[in-house]
Amino acid sequence: MVQRSGENRTVQSSAGSPTPPPAEFVEQANVTDEGIYEEFEERPECWERAATLVEWDREYDAIIDDDDPPFYRWFPGGQLNASYNCLDRHLEDGRKNHAAIWWEGKQGESETYTYRELYVAVNEFAAALQSLGVEEDDVVTIYLPMIPELPIAMLACARIGAPHSVVFAGLSADALATRMDAADSEYLVTADGYYRRGNAFNQKSKADNALISVGRDVSTVVVDRFGDDLPHVLNEGQYDYHDLVAGHTGETVPPVSRDADDMLFLMYTSGTTGEPKGVVHTTGGYLAYAAWTARTVFDLEPEDTYWCSADIGWITGHTYIVYGPLALGSTTVIYEGTPDYPERDRLWEIVERNAVDVFYTAPTTIQAFMKWGPEYPERHDLSSLRLLGSVGEPISPRPWQWYYDHVGDGACPVVDTWWQTETGGVTVTTLPGVKPMKPGSAGPPLPGIDARVVDDDGEEVDPGQPGYLTLHRPWPGMAKTLYDDDEKYLAEYWQRFSDPEADEWVYFSGDAASVDEDGYVTILGRVDDVINVAGHRLSTMEIESAILGVEGIAEAAVVGGTDPANGTEVYAYVSTENDHAPDQAVRERITSSIETAIGPIATPEAVVFTPDLPKTRSGKIMRRLLEDIASGDELGDTSALRNPEIVGEIQAATRDE
Ligand code: WTA
Repeated sequence: MVQRSGENRTVQSSAGSPTPPPAEFVEQANVTDEGIYEEFEERPECWERAATLVEWDREYDAIIDDDDPPFYRWFPGGQLNASYNCLDRHLEDGRKNHAAIWWEGKQGESETYTYRELYVAVNEFAAALQSLGVEEDDVVTIYLPMIPELPIAMLACARIGAPHSVVFAGLSADALATRMDAADSEYLVTADGYYRRGNAFNQKSKADNALISVGRDVSTVVVDRFGDDLPHVLNEGQYDYHDLVAGHTGETVPPVSRDADDMLFLMYTSGTTGEPKGVVHTTGGYLAYAAWTARTVFDLEPEDTYWCSADIGWITGHTYIVYGPLALGSTTVIYEGTPDYPERDRLWEIVERNAVDVFYTAPTTIQAFMKWGPEYPERHDLSSLRLLGSVGEPISPRPWQWYYDHVGDGACPVVDTWWQTETGGVTVTTLPGVKPMKPGSAGPPLPGIDARVVDDDGEEVDPGQPGYLTLHRPWPGMAKTLYDDDEKYLAEYWQRFSDPEADEWVYFSGDAASVDEDGYVTILGRVDDVINVAGHRLSTMEIESAILGVEGIAEAAVVGGTDPANGTEVYAYVSTENDHAPDQAVRERITSSIETAIGPIATPEAVVFTPDLPKTRSGKIMRRLLEDIASGDELGDTSALRNPEIVGEIQAATRDE
């Protein structure tokens, strides 16, 4: 029985009937032999196949060093540079004039960087970073919107061995400051602002606010995105990106050889506590896994144009906009805008214009398109598409089918990819040229991945039964640890199901899932206090603590309300102190406090005031019940409630919102 916040919860999976991969796709697929599953089962050395997709400065001595589990070291003894792998080697293999990045800007502008041009830009910025004093192992924070300078800055950091910590541009000043402090980061790359739905947003003022509270001197580089449209002032220690780079025109910086398990980057993500966790990814294992999964799951070839519509500020963008596709030498599309601006066919117009081969997006986007109707994809010739992907949330059979029919025209496999910031790359999905797809189910674990669904005692559950999704064997893309906190890494992910005495190490994902008779995994959602909203991973505790910071708030419970049409949204249930009326002004203060602490991505769909929250006799807030109410679901068992009379009132108030 899966527990959430101490309560029992049973959920059933509802995967659709199997759809075989389209024959035309299989004919040309990178992987077509089902035997690959068995090979990886028997020979963990198979991971060598991932390692051969990258170029090593020094060959590794072994595939894995597992002397100190769960702190595995992948490809020990090996040395490499990620920027070299994404750039230099493609100049030599005939791809120097091949497009590396196709950038589509918000205002309809577009820019292309060939591999040669990207190489030049990265080298010049690497030289600029060095001139500011950045050295190997210094953490550089990057707080940029979806503009070419974002991947350029990442690769420049990688080139000089300085780990980057990219903070999603939509996060608040407070969130940026927390992450810079946690990573001891003394360097920041940001922009004056960015456009969203035609509106200009001031990014620099957020960065400046963050810098006020960061407890050290920070050198800041500011990209001028707005030009003369919106002038900005540079303070002491702040440099204009283009002026700085102009001082290093034509300079090259030799790529630093990094040990395979040296940190390539840090990515902060929401965890079960209010504190974001700094997930550390390595240079060798991560890069090899990014390239391997891009090749096997997304079927990428160097000549492909590939588009992942996620934001680079999250792990999906790191692995499948930047490192995976560029390591393979493909063309990666970077889109700054939103799907419905200036028109609801914007994405399909970009697919047609760039003849995109592989497209990867989130279920929320697909659901939005489903609501808008098939006429938008129908306006465009999408026949260049060969494969479609989905990530971030469960995709229900209906949107899956819509995607398959109206975007893929029945000719493209859909890979529903399950993975996490911590796994570095995809771990559960159908290999598109091998396995039939089951709409609603992510699929079997990839070759070499040992995913199992277990009960509270760590025993595997029967097919169809819900349980906890766990991984029982290490894989190259796995996180190395949490920044500066091995103990928390152990506690968060490994303690629950491992048996160190028996030398059994089990990674706990925090997700609930079930497995069917064919080994296909259906994800049921998080079992911890994390919710996924439109591909953003949010901590309910972090949102609650922002609400509790508002004067006059007595109690708050935040849950994810899910409905098939809109996906998951944030619902806040709040009670005020007796002398504070729950009025519109309080509601606005709540929203603004959340936006200050986290950012507008966490703004609640509804703030529901209630005189009391539903509580068990022991005084625990029954979040599961609130989740059902927010989702408009039938309510589960309420017999454990101390105050059942409140339920009807909360339901009515939620409906009114
Ligand atoms: C959820 C994003 C269902 C899951 C790559 C996971 C999914 C969390 C899927 C990680 C999927 C991701 N089906 N749920 N195909 N993919 N998730 O760290 O709850 O931002 O634990 O990584 O997203 O979110 P994160």
